Amino acid sequence: MGSPLKIMPKTARQAPKSAAHDAPEEARGSRLGDETLITHLGRDPLANFGVVNPPVYHASTILHPNTESFASSFQRRFEKGEVNYGRMGTPTSYALEDAVAQLEGGYGATSVSSGLAAITTAILAFVKAGDHILMTDSAYMPSQSFSRGMLARLGVETTFYPPCITADDLSALVRKNTRILFTESPGSITFEMQDIPALSAAAKAVNPDLVVLTDNTWATPLYYKALAHGVDVSIHAGTKYIGGHSDVMIGLITTTEQHYVTVRQSATSLGIASGPDDIYLALRGLRTMAVRLRRHQETGLTLARWLEARPEVARVLHPALPGDPGHAIWRRDYTGACGLFGVELVPAPDQAVAAMVDDLELFGIGASWGGYESLAMPIEPRKLHREAESWTGAGPLVRFHAGLEDPDDLIADLEAGLARFNRVRKAS
Ligand SMILES: Cc1ncc(COP(=O)(O)O)c(C=O)c1O
Repeated sequence: MGSPLKIMPKTARQAPKSAAHDAPEEARGSRLGDETLITHLGRDPLANFGVVNPPVYHASTILHPNTESFASSFQRRFEKGEVNYGRMGTPTSYALEDAVAQLEGGYGATSVSSGLAAITTAILAFVKAGDHILMTDSAYMPSQSFSRGMLARLGVETTFYPPCITADDLSALVRKNTRILFTESPGSITFEMQDIPALSAAAKAVNPDLVVLTDNTWATPLYYKALAHGVDVSIHAGTKYIGGHSDVMIGLITTTEQHYVTVRQSATSLGIASGPDDIYLALRGLRTMAVRLRRHQETGLTLARWLEARPEVARVLHPALPGDPGHAIWRRDYTGACGLFGVELVPAPDQAVAAMVDDLELFGIGASWGGYESLAMPIEPRKLHREAESWTGAGPLVRFHAGLEDPDDLIADLEAGLARFNRVRKAS
């Protein structure tokens, strides 16, 4: 048997240019496969007595041998791998950050205390009073609330744009003081795909100083290499698939080299470091994310196709379905889909939706997603915040997360749920 302490290369040899579904092996160049990287990045058993998983460092104070070392470590505090003070980075946080950044093809990553903290930290890294940002109307609701509330109070104006805006129409919205183009694809709740490379190119042609951010939580660092598609800063709620077990709150921000220190400084100023145990759980979760995601994807598509054929369903919102309006973009730029998708039901009273969802046996009702368990969350379309373009769907929306259960059991549960939906709808 070979040495159990074989260390894999620390650096991905080359980030992929574009992720094609049926890309031949040679199109990957000399880069190791993602499933190899996810297994080996961010760990060095030889440095840890052969221990496979990087140990958890609980640290606030870091002791230095003398004043000179203390001072020079402080000087280097925003550099990757520097251990200066617990909040600024430990060997545990660097292990996770290295793994995520290399998997996504970025220069570096910064971990923070939640996905929302990753969004706010990334935005605050780039704006000052008097600036303007562009945000998709389909962004995660708390991203929108942050812009409408705190950013507005700080003197930063937000213009919301329709998620499927053309590059030309977007160009017209870019101003001299526009600092950020904020994207999210597919959109939260409504799952519109954005042509991020085209939007990024158009916005930067008008204002080369503008920074493109994306909330890449849906696709994860595995299925969308955001930085190879015109994005400068890619944001992940690691709370979802990276953690994968609904027991961690963490956010990650992957950047190009140009923006790494700016984002790091923002996280430090805000003081929102993630705790060491959550970082450890996220790195542990990351190791199995590729296999979990494959199953989430498969089951999600099985449920989506089944729902598509049901008379109670007006349409399924899932970019990996060939009939979806965003399918061409998904197919061109993404290498997979996660287990999160939506359905628009035929128009029905709220009680009919409640009758369906409340008594589902295998789908939990709750916020967040990305764990091993299936979820269903009803959304009243009138509660969607749309400034740029109204949502045109007439029926109620339900967002589903396909977990790791047997898909046949999930379908049976949904079938019984739709029967309840029909009973109440017809009676009302
Ligand atoms: C798309 C998206 N981004 C960010 C977040 C925020 O993540 P967290 O709950 O870790 O703050 C969520 C949470 O549901 C989300 O759905």
